[in-house]
Amino acid sequence: MPIQILDQNTINKIAAGEVIERPASVVKELAENAIDAMATAVTIEIKDGGISFIRITDNGCGIDKGEIPMAFLRHSTSKIKSVEDLMCVRSLGFRGEALSSIAAVAQIELITKTKEAFTGVRYVIEGGKEQNMEDIGAPDGTTFIVRNLFYNTPVRRKFLKTATTEAGYVSALVEHLAFSHPEISFRFINNGQNKLYTSGNGSLKDIIYHVNGRDIATNLLEVSAKTQDIQISGFIGKPMISRGNRTYENYFINGRYIKSNIITRAIEEGYKGYIMQHQYPFTALHFTIEQSIIDVNVHPTKMELRFSQNEFV
Ligand SMILES: Nc1ncnc2c1ncn2[C@@H]1O[C@H](COP(=O)(O)OP(=O)(O)OP(=O)(O)O)[C@@H](O)[C@H]1O
Ligand SMILES: [Mg+2]
Repeated sequence: MPIQILDQNTINKIAAGEVIERPASVVKELAENAIDAMATAVTIEIKDGGISFIRITDNGCGIDKGEIPMAFLRHSTSKIKSVEDLMCVRSLGFRGEALSSIAAVAQIELITKTKEAFTGVRYVIEGGKEQNMEDIGAPDGTTFIVRNLFYNTPVRRKFLKTATTEAGYVSALVEHLAFSHPEISFRFINNGQNKLYTSGNGSLKDIIYHVNGRDIATNLLEVSAKTQDIQISGFIGKPMISRGNRTYENYFINGRYIKSNIITRAIEEGYKGYIMQHQYPFTALHFTIEQSIIDVNVHPTKMELRFSQNEFV
């Protein structure tokens, strides 16, 4: 075969493999877009584990009609303009590739309206190809419906687990989103059933109560600490509510759920002597860190974090 440059659709399909692995990745990207759009309420609905149907509705800023097709192009973003902006990026997204990736491997229907617009717009794009764009009545904000994930990439589809397992991944993700933004009201509906609702009243403890139940919520210690560059707030569990794996450890940096070995190790170190070996604490800790000292483009784990252990237990 002669060497040739791949067409955009093929490039997007390949690139989608990096960003979009399963329904939970679609939910993550769309929900983060909703958060970036300053939504105060986000509803996430899935059917069949999200494989056949995902709907995410927000009351955020909406997308201007003239910008809709562009939003689905690769490397198109309203969130940064240059590499320098990466230094101070406050939004969750900035790569400008989520929508193009999802559109490449699914059927998308978008309904959106900005405050300034008189009517809403309905836009349909399937397998990266625009199908339709029309004006329709709609409330302010954005709804994305994503149908039949990987319908045109059967191999990827085969790697998905059962609907129940996929729904479990989405559910865990929604919990992390709710933890990371107590000021946003989240609703999660699975196969027509309400699974989670947070009021958006800003109380992290209320969310812990909703997600983890009374036993956990009544055995917490509040954490609040501040150094020059880092501010920490949230809750940690008393040693008695520790468990056998790390799924109860939740860490957030600047509103983003993260996994960080440095933080995990420091916290677990602090618990040494208080909980048994191979037991892990409950934590829901928010770190607010000067944006310029962390590199979100790689992974926030690279930063140097030092805690005085006593602060935590
Ligand atoms: N729910 C939404 N409300 C308002 N604007 C949105 C919404 N979703 C997407 N957009 C617009 O579409 C653009 C493209 O979204 P996309 O997710 O592809 O890229 P991004 O969020 O900028 O970067 P990343 O790929 O890192 O997520 C966004 O920059 C934003 O301007
Ligand atoms: Mg995005």
